[in-house]
Amino acid sequence: MARLKTKVALITGSDSGIGRAIAIAYGKEGANVVVTYRSDEEGGKRTTADIIAAGGEAICLQLDVSDEAKVAQVFDEVIQKYGKIDLLVNNAGINGSNVPVAEMDTSTFDRCIKTNLYGSFFCTRAYLQRRKGITSGGNIIFVSSIHEEVNTAGNADYNASKAGVKNFSRSLALELADKNIRVNNIAPGMILTEMNQEAVEDDTVRKEKEQYIPMKRAGKPEDVAQIAVFLASADSDYVTGATYVVDGGLMIHLGQGA
Ligand code: NAI
Repeated sequence: MARLKTKVALITGSDSGIGRAIAIAYGKEGANVVVTYRSDEEGGKRTTADIIAAGGEAICLQLDVSDEAKVAQVFDEVIQKYGKIDLLVNNAGINGSNVPVAEMDTSTFDRCIKTNLYGSFFCTRAYLQRRKGITSGGNIIFVSSIHEEVNTAGNADYNASKAGVKNFSRSLALELADKNIRVNNIAPGMILTEMNQEAVEDDTVRKEKEQYIPMKRAGKPEDVAQIAVFLASADSDYVTGATYVVDGGLMIHLGQGA
């Protein structure tokens, strides 16, 4: 299939986990993929090599989304190479600090908000500023979390950042609806990536957590990537401002037995 043929797609944090799976899936659909990594160069190169080995097109660039100047530089580089960016996936993110608010210092709170929320803002703005004169359809996809709605004590920084991402994406969808740019959001549940390292490494931990998931299994990065392909493709042409929850039913299950 080549649902994304001729599209240039930049995916933040595509050296690992969900971002890597999205980059590979986009490569299979014919996109020119811009793989980006913050510090794991080897991971970025691995994603890029895997796309190329499968017959796709990809380049690999270093990008810290919390660094405004670096974001501008990378987006300029992509425009220089391809002349456009069609698809932006704001995937990069870090976990919360697990520090109670009363004890949280400013730099801890800053770190999470700066990556998850500001990072999405910096990349989105850089993308939009480089679309002047481009009339072909644009597309921005955010990766929030079920924690945009579901709260957990001790993770106020993460939960606030993801609620922010959701509302940012919805406001942006309205702003861009008549400009041929669609904006959607994916809210994953428990996905087996580095962010859930304990569950990846320890079957007992994973199985215990899976009991709370109605489908009785944690998600794979590919489960999220398939939705990201759908939202990037013409198959979702009339969809904007939506959040797709990819969680095996976890979110609707909350409150059972209360
Ligand atoms: P991961 O740890 O494998 O991937 C996170 C990626 O973000 C990495 O590539 C990392 O290098 C990148 N990153 C972190 N800070 C960055 C920065 N300042 N600049 C650029 N890149 C940066 O974890 P995963 O699960 O693939 O996470 C991807 C997204 O999915 C994140 O936004 C996360 O919050 C979200 N998510 C993950 C869930 C899970 O259960 N794994 C559940 C809900 C949401």
